[in-house]
Amino acid sequence: MQTHKLIQLDALKPNVPQRFDVDGKGILLCRVQDSVHAVQDMCTHEDVSLSLGVLCEHRLRCPLHGSEFDIRTGQVLDEPADENLKTYDVSIENGWVLLDV
Ligand code: FES
Repeated sequence: MQTHKLIQLDALKPNVPQRFDVDGKGILLCRVQDSVHAVQDMCTHEDVSLSLGVLCEHRLRCPLHGSEFDIRTGQVLDEPADENLKTYDVSIENGWVLLDV
């Protein structure tokens, strides 16, 4: 497990999913108010970046076919996807968003 310092919290726009490449993986950071969650960037239905999706509270909607996921748990909330997103541990330290991969 390695910790990566990704971005300052203030630079992460609320409700706008932002993609990062970490160790060759596409990771999506989602800020909702002052909490930050990290999930895999690729939709589990087809290979589409969820960074183009819409984040509403804790629901992230895929831009292609509209599957919805809970960014706190990665759980599928709406079809057609039937596989949950992988989640990653995030912490905030001295104003920085840290990710454990
Ligand atoms: S690619 Fe995401 S719902 Fe189809």
